[in-house]
Amino acid sequence: MTLRFTTVGITGAGAMGQGIAQIAVQAGSIVKLFDTQPAAIERARDALHAQWDRMADKGKLDARQAQACKERLHAAGTLQELADCDLVIEAIVERLDVKKSFFAELEAVVRHDAVLVTNTSSLSVTAIAAKLAHPQRFAGYHFFNPVPLMKVVEVIAGLKTDPAVCKSLADYALQIGHTPVMAQDTPGFIVNHAGRAYGTEALRIVSEGIADFATIDRILKDQAGFRLGPFELMDLTALDVSHPVMESIYRQYYDEPRYRPSVITAQRLAAGMVGRKSGEGFYKYVEAKPQLPA
Ligand code: NAI
Repeated sequence: MTLRFTTVGITGAGAMGQGIAQIAVQAGSIVKLFDTQPAAIERARDALHAQWDRMADKGKLDARQAQACKERLHAAGTLQELADCDLVIEAIVERLDVKKSFFAELEAVVRHDAVLVTNTSSLSVTAIAAKLAHPQRFAGYHFFNPVPLMKVVEVIAGLKTDPAVCKSLADYALQIGHTPVMAQDTPGFIVNHAGRAYGTEALRIVSEGIADFATIDRILKDQAGFRLGPFELMDLTALDVSHPVMESIYRQYYDEPRYRPSVITAQRLAAGMVGRKSGEGFYKYVEAKPQLPA
């Protein structure tokens, strides 16, 4: 039996929550967006309204469709407002303790048949579900940044997830224009495990003085066909997200040296140079285009 997700709650109105909200609304879902920071919801809503206006200007939506999108997006002032959701997608901070207590609180609010998913990049889906009363309705649903352009979503079953839940999530991914990929509940799943090689090795090349980061980005784009180099990607993801992901994957693989995180990203995170969203990462972001630091 396929479950139908008509009303979708999204928690965390940051880069990922906003992107997931966009594609879900555009596909016809009613979306309720919640964040502990009301300003974050407002920012996401303003950005999405502006996005739908731009799409209407370019003829990608007609004016009536743009207006309907705006009407399907609701700001939730409290978690309780997600009580009638069929599906709740969590995209909050990447910390196991925070995600676990978030889901315990959420489970007390939602219907017993609502499906709950986490957009975690690196944490164990089974561990996040450990304290749930109904872990069979819980799964990983891992989107990539920027969500509207990156068309893959990993669907991850925890040890207790009902297979029908994963099947329904895969169907919903297709409905919102994405390609579902079934992944196992292992550190980094498929994409962030395979991608380790490029990120950690590129950081090693810089720390050994073999090449600078801009050269590595340029070569991987020009010669290996990457759309973004590893340092551009870290700037896009932001180090407050990707450095903890590197630490988490390293720890979960029992300190496997291949995955050892770098002091370069630790230092930059400590300095607040996290990437595009802070205006400076490996590159400076004066406007939309990356620039090399002076
Ligand atoms: P972000 O920092 O842009 O946004 C997170 C939002 O969650 C913030 O607005 C914050 O106020 C809110 N928040 C924190 N605790 C909350 C709580 N208890 N309840 C409700 N809202 C809360 O982070 P981003 O980049 O959107 O990442 C979110 C999640 O998605 C993380 O788990 C991350 O690992 C995952 N992810 C991130 C990707 C990326 O490239 N940035 C890619 C794929 C997954």
